[in-house]
Amino acid sequence: MDLDKLMNKHLTRYFDPSKTIPEETLQQLLTFLRSAPTSTNIQPNHFYVLTTPEAKERLAANLGERFQDNSGKILNSSHTIILTTRADLPESHIEEVFDKETADGRFPDQAKNALWQSMTRDFLNMRIYRYKDLNHWMEKQTYLVLGLTMMAAAELGVEATPLEGFDPISVDAAFKIRETGHTTTVLLALGYPDLAKVYNGPVSRFEADRLFTFV
Ligand SMILES: Cc1cc2nc3c(=O)[nH]c(=O)nc-3n(C[C@H](O)[C@H](O)[C@H](O)COP(=O)(O)O)c2cc1C
Repeated sequence: MDLDKLMNKHLTRYFDPSKTIPEETLQQLLTFLRSAPTSTNIQPNHFYVLTTPEAKERLAANLGERFQDNSGKILNSSHTIILTTRADLPESHIEEVFDKETADGRFPDQAKNALWQSMTRDFLNMRIYRYKDLNHWMEKQTYLVLGLTMMAAAELGVEATPLEGFDPISVDAAFKIRETGHTTTVLLALGYPDLAKVYNGPVSRFEADRLFTFV
């Protein structure tokens, strides 16, 4: 991965609609996405991978009135992913995580598996009753997946632009997402840049002394 290049480039705002991510590359990226870690292995996400023009049009048409400027990014992307997060955390989801971990042999030792499950439940109860931030905490996991997927895309030579400019109520309704117990957190447009519209101006970020405290 060319970190120098990554540090000095802008996120892509103009995708080349004629270019499509090869299927093998897309599958590599999704396999990586699947492997992203989440706190307590909670895996609170479902991802809608928009592959057809119709699906991208449906999203672009349902961003909400004030977010129309993002529609071109979606329409010209090769693929756009809707990253959704659970809106609540039912017992059935927790059981599903535990069952999968057990089936995968995460902790072959039964006592260790039971200890892990009780520690996970303690932690979840803390989020629910002490910090009262369950939804916020689950969405933090989604952003971690987002960031890791952006880095993996860079490694695969694919541009990845996150988009927060959308109305989640409208996007949820367009894809019937609420009905599944999830809600839209963030979008990720993927593809290749329109070379005629790449902006090469300076990247603006705070200086290091504003950001880092060495103790
Ligand atoms: C989480 C996140 C959400 C973003 N949402 C949008 C968006 O909805 N529309 C857009 O044009 N740019 C969006 N951006 C791009 C940022 O505005 C951009 O990265 C920032 O202004 C810095 O610009 P640069 O990447 O060109 O240096 C988003 C970036 C991040 C990290």
